[in-house]
Amino acid sequence: MVIDLRSDTVTQPTEAMVESMREASLGDDSRDGDVTVRKLETMGAARMGKEAAVFMPSGTMTNLVAILAHTQRGGEVLLETGAHILNSELGGITAVAGVFYKGIPGHRGAMDLERLADTIRAPTRQNFGTALVCMETSHNRAGGAVLPLEHMKAVYGLARRHGVPVHTDGARIFNAATMLRIEPSAITEHTDSVCFCVSKGLSAPIGSLLCGSADYIERARAFRRMVGGNMRQAGPLAAAGIVALETMVKRLEQDHATAKRLAEKLHRIDAGLVKPADVETNLVKVELPKNGRIAAEWSAALKALGILVSPSERYALRFVTHRHIGDAEIDAAAAAFTKVRLALT
Ligand SMILES: Cc1ncc(COP(=O)(O)O)c(C=O)c1O
Repeated sequence: MVIDLRSDTVTQPTEAMVESMREASLGDDSRDGDVTVRKLETMGAARMGKEAAVFMPSGTMTNLVAILAHTQRGGEVLLETGAHILNSELGGITAVAGVFYKGIPGHRGAMDLERLADTIRAPTRQNFGTALVCMETSHNRAGGAVLPLEHMKAVYGLARRHGVPVHTDGARIFNAATMLRIEPSAITEHTDSVCFCVSKGLSAPIGSLLCGSADYIERARAFRRMVGGNMRQAGPLAAAGIVALETMVKRLEQDHATAKRLAEKLHRIDAGLVKPADVETNLVKVELPKNGRIAAEWSAALKALGILVSPSERYALRFVTHRHIGDAEIDAAAAAFTKVRLALT
């Protein structure tokens, strides 16, 4: 049996999702609109405390469209150096939106506020100025760390004082909200726009939503069309997304508990691998010994034992827990890790 800890995107739709997809409306969302897509967009906007939302096929596309709708060519986007938008979205913000970025160093995904204050700037005759500030919570590269609300508030306040909009990549915002024990709308008070995915720990097969003011989302709809994100009979995808929002949010705390269990087990094997206190959500970043055996070798050895994980840095692995991972899978993964560690160190 294979235990897949590479990502929460591997989650399969639930029976209820499949049933809802079968029954879903088949309106042309790009022409007359589709009632199920509209329902999901209304639900998504409400959960995020925003006026409107627009449904898209991927998180990458929602971030790209968010940036297109906020900025103009030549503007600067400021974001934490480990941000997914900066590291994993293939430079779309530059290639497609024509903006360029400045990475702000941070701690656990939170930008250094002094560096941010020093970098944000108004347009002059010589430059276009800061067009947008982006945050990410939970933060993928920072091992699923959740941005403290105080930090988000400070970033939003600073950006507003400069008249700069803020976008938040909330691909896993429901994990962040679960960890903070608040509604996502209490997080998104501190951002103008936010995107989130139903396709990750919430188990829907496909889909992300961009949320913001009604005017902003109207503008985003045109950019969605420009980048080929207008879908036709998207009702079945939206139907699964609705079931995800209705039934899959509460259980995310189970994924956080299994991630913690994994972290504690690995910590007992070697305290240098991971600090359990750093594991706030469903991602576990494991720091490997820097002995020349790189993360790809560890993941290949784990794969040979039926455990799939992602090499996230030269000497770091990423384990992600989700609906198909329970205590037994965690115990098997930790046992396999022990064997691999004996072989590689
Ligand atoms: C923080 C973050 N943002 C955006 C994305 C992109 O989502 P998608 O894979 O749907 O394009 C991911 C995917 O893992 C992510 O972790």
